[in-house]
Amino acid sequence: MLSALSALLMFATLAHGIFGPARQHVRIAKSWRPMMVGVGVAQNFLASPGSTVREALAFAESTLVSCGDPEASVAARHLVACAVGETGARSLSNLQSRLQDADDILSAAATEHLGELLRRRSAREPIQYLIGEWDFHMLTLKVRPPILVPRPETEELVEYILAELRAEGRRLGLGLGTTTPLRILDIGAGSGAIGLALAAALPGATCVGIDQSAEAVALARENAAMLGLQDRYECVHASLLEFVGEAQGARTFDLVVSNPPYIPRSDMAGLEPEVLVYEDDAALCGGSDGLDVVRQILDAAPGLLGRDAGGPPSGEEVGGGSIARGAAWRLESPVWLEVDSSHPPLVAELVGPGARSADTNVGAARLKLVRSIRDLGGLPRFCVLGLG
Ligand SMILES: C[S@@+](CC[C@H](N)C(=O)[O-])C[C@H]1O[C@@H](n2cnc3c(N)ncnc32)[C@H](O)[C@@H]1O
Repeated sequence: MLSALSALLMFATLAHGIFGPARQHVRIAKSWRPMMVGVGVAQNFLASPGSTVREALAFAESTLVSCGDPEASVAARHLVACAVGETGARSLSNLQSRLQDADDILSAAATEHLGELLRRRSAREPIQYLIGEWDFHMLTLKVRPPILVPRPETEELVEYILAELRAEGRRLGLGLGTTTPLRILDIGAGSGAIGLALAAALPGATCVGIDQSAEAVALARENAAMLGLQDRYECVHASLLEFVGEAQGARTFDLVVSNPPYIPRSDMAGLEPEVLVYEDDAALCGGSDGLDVVRQILDAAPGLLGRDAGGPPSGEEVGGGSIARGAAWRLESPVWLEVDSSHPPLVAELVGPGARSADTNVGAARLKLVRSIRDLGGLPRFCVLGLG
């Protein structure tokens, strides 16, 4: 745990070093106060013609403060950067340089664009949707409503998986996933965040993402193409049950990962309006106890991992990282889930031989909870499962 955590911190430091002030480290407030726009005088969202970038930033921040935006400073930086055409992981550091230039004047089009962004922000639209992209792990992904904006916790999940794969690689004497053809399934792909981050970090890996939302599948495919990962990343439009029904036995994987909808229904009303209004309910709500899709995953996972659930076929050469495509691996922890902080003890009850009940069937009974991991906020957030 300690070494995984230090790896995570090293990752955060490394990412920061490479990309400058990366946007994933800018946390958007968890609780949003209602903005005050519309109360009193009509808000002006247009900066004065001929404003410098510095003046536009000051205008944007004061406008958002007057609208009651609790993240006015952060939001203003992102929106001004976007309006003046700064995109990608370096957008904020590029903006910082432009603030020093007294001759850097906003064009009329940039002023209009900023006005529109401020108007939309005043209606509590998430910054990520306004700028249309967000950083995840080492990647910049396109994002758009209503597909879930990838979260920092999920970056932690990716980093824990990579740390585990490195450890497994050492155990097997392989550069596992770097040159070996690890086959990954990401259930509930959304923007493609998890699968694309893993595919990018593991040059030998292939990933199949599945999602029941056609909009999510389109976005994940766009992101894969934008990142040049389309040859190793495929996104299938199907619910998990449809995919399992169609793929039954034909497609197996070495690693199954998911950040499923897991919020208990009774918690939904307490979500920030930005989440509740703009993100897809079906990406968030996991039913009455939040475990509807988790149960399906637990049940399907052993079948998705293949009948023998891994291990290079006997007699196959496993040294030198030259494994033929299609070989299966016996990862000790092949199933990784992000869940609600109330879920790890419930997941422990849903798996294992003693767990057969109306809730579980044969699939889940073949799994065991290897461990749960807390996120950087200290909440039990990730379940790591193996075959019992
Ligand atoms: C919490 S979002 C995660 C998105 C992305 N993996 C991420 O971490 O940013 C859950 C995703 O699962 C999809 N989903 C929900 N139920 C599903 C099901 N039964 N089968 C397949 N996808 C599902 C939703 O459409 C949504 O895109």
